[in-house]
Amino acid sequence: MLVLGIESSCDETGVALVESEGEGVPRLLAHALHSQVEMHQAYGGVVPELASRDHIRRVLPLAGEVLARTGLPLADVDVVAYTRGPGLAGALLVGAGVACALGAALDVPVLGVHHLEGHLLSPFLSADPPEFPFVALLVSGGHTQLMRVDGVGRYALLGETIDDAAGEAFDKSAKLMGLGYPGGPALSRLAQEGDPEAFKLPRPLLHSGDLDFSFAGLKTAVLTQAKKLGPELPARKADLAASTQAAIVEVLVKKSLAALKATGLKRIVVAGGVGANRLLREQLDAACARRGVRVHYPELSLCTDNGAMIAMAAAMRLQSGVEAASGSYAFDVRPR
Ligand code: KG4
Ligand code: ZN
Repeated sequence: MLVLGIESSCDETGVALVESEGEGVPRLLAHALHSQVEMHQAYGGVVPELASRDHIRRVLPLAGEVLARTGLPLADVDVVAYTRGPGLAGALLVGAGVACALGAALDVPVLGVHHLEGHLLSPFLSADPPEFPFVALLVSGGHTQLMRVDGVGRYALLGETIDDAAGEAFDKSAKLMGLGYPGGPALSRLAQEGDPEAFKLPRPLLHSGDLDFSFAGLKTAVLTQAKKLGPELPARKADLAASTQAAIVEVLVKKSLAALKATGLKRIVVAGGVGANRLLREQLDAACARRGVRVHYPELSLCTDNGAMIAMAAAMRLQSGVEAASGSYAFDVRPR
């Protein structure tokens, strides 16, 4: 079965082809991605209307690119999958519209995929895919969740953020340090030159005894520290970045270890944009190695939004029988 996947929930247009055969882990044949980051940079964040228009411009050429790379004709596609949500409504509608149009033209079913399930299953795109069950740490720009994953569609929420997401904490802290958009990668680059112990920043909910997160207070503490530094801020920016990153990463690692302990599982999957963070990977790898726990990540290039994870999630849902693709081409997007 050949699945064409389309991602257009935010500021990346992604298209991919995944092939599944029998019971084996579906295989990525090709994917293509266009990032709108440069276009939004001038505004300091994603401008929804511009995002939708750019998705329209990019999506079909990207689909053409993917097909050309595999040498397969469009007519070979068996199912068209798209990101149903969450995301920006207008941006989602582009992917949904194109998916339904292709489905109708080819007379094949379509399947709307939850964006976070795409992230969650993205480690299955790697050469060394995980086995169920596992704990998942989902850390994106909009979500921070710990889950117990027993199989495709069998997800139990263990804990989540009660306010800002980890990615948001990176982005907002970076913004108030004047590091631009997207802030996460910029902040972590600058942090390499700083002292992570230079500033004492809070580790919210670290000892709360549950698996929830809170990052809003940390962001306020960074703002207070930045104000206190005043004219000294430019000279101390790397130290503040390193201290901020250390605080976020420590909370993510400790809560992940607590989730492993609570479930008794010996495997953890880290997915979502913040999963690209080097310090998080180093610290989690070290802590898990000491406990005999396997850590799985998606490939670095597939940590942030992409079409491959959407095609993969669709292929796995269909393969495991948790959902059938639909022959109805009514647009169905769920922004929230
Ligand atoms: O998963 P993603 O691409 O989009 C959402 O679904 O939200 O995640 C984007 C988030 C942003 O907040 C971005 O700053 C963060 O991931 N991010 C990082 C790094 N790379 C991306 N945060 C910290 N360190 C990184 N290297
Ligand atoms: Zn995402």
